[in-house]
Amino acid sequence: MSKVISAHAVSVDGYITGRDPGAGRGLGDGTMLFDWYFNGDTPSQVFDGFKLSAPSARLFDTLAGRVGAIVAGRTTYDDSDHFGGGSPHPTARLHVLSHRPAPEISERQTLITTGIQDAIAAAREAAGDKDVGLMGGGVATEALKAGLVDEVILHQVPVLLGGGRPFFQELPEHVHLRLLEAVPAPGVTHLHYQVAR
Ligand SMILES: NC(=O)c1ccc[n+]([C@@H]2O[C@H](COP(=O)([O-])OP(=O)(O)OC[C@H]3O[C@@H](n4cnc5c(N)ncnc54)[C@H](OP(=O)(O)O)[C@@H]3O)[C@@H](O)[C@H]2O)c1
Repeated sequence: MSKVISAHAVSVDGYITGRDPGAGRGLGDGTMLFDWYFNGDTPSQVFDGFKLSAPSARLFDTLAGRVGAIVAGRTTYDDSDHFGGGSPHPTARLHVLSHRPAPEISERQTLITTGIQDAIAAAREAAGDKDVGLMGGGVATEALKAGLVDEVILHQVPVLLGGGRPFFQELPEHVHLRLLEAVPAPGVTHLHYQVAR
């Protein structure tokens, strides 16, 4: 069965955006969280235009190549200007999890309003033998609560943003992680964990 992966760029104090994110404003004052996509000379084999450092490219492309479908939270969808009617991933279909209708959803996107289990089930179906990527701290938390996350990747950027949307949110119980790999790279440290079961 395909795996469910949560991979986010986070500040050391755990934010996935800076202050004042939103439609037309992206990550607000936290745009440096994505600087490592462009701070090297190794072109990504998956994402056109990304030029990463060699250690980041190896890890990033391995993960991005595994993803066959995405589940994003409604806030990520809205703050990212609905991904222009497509997907944040060049080949993986976007599934948006929300409690409410989304009139702007396109035929290349899928809206799910019946909960995280249904969103991940639909994404697994779309992913075929590939994996499902999660986008958004709220969605990652819901999936962790449901016991549906297999791997957590923190692309940890050496900054204390001091505010923004948090990745880490309240969970009803501990979730134990096992470190698979820690990769220091220019401008980012990649921490790849497996959820222990
Ligand atoms: N740094 C990174 O790598 C990275 C990656 C992804 C996203 N981001 C940024 O992170 C921000 C969003 O993160 P976030 O944690 O605030 O929000 P999020 O996870 O993207 O979205 C949360 C929303 O999703 C919907 N939702 C969540 N669980 C649900 C459930 N079980 N059933 C139905 N709907 C559910 C709800 O929307 P409604 O109730 O409103 O319908 C909820 O308010 C955005 O600004 C985005 O750009 C950063």
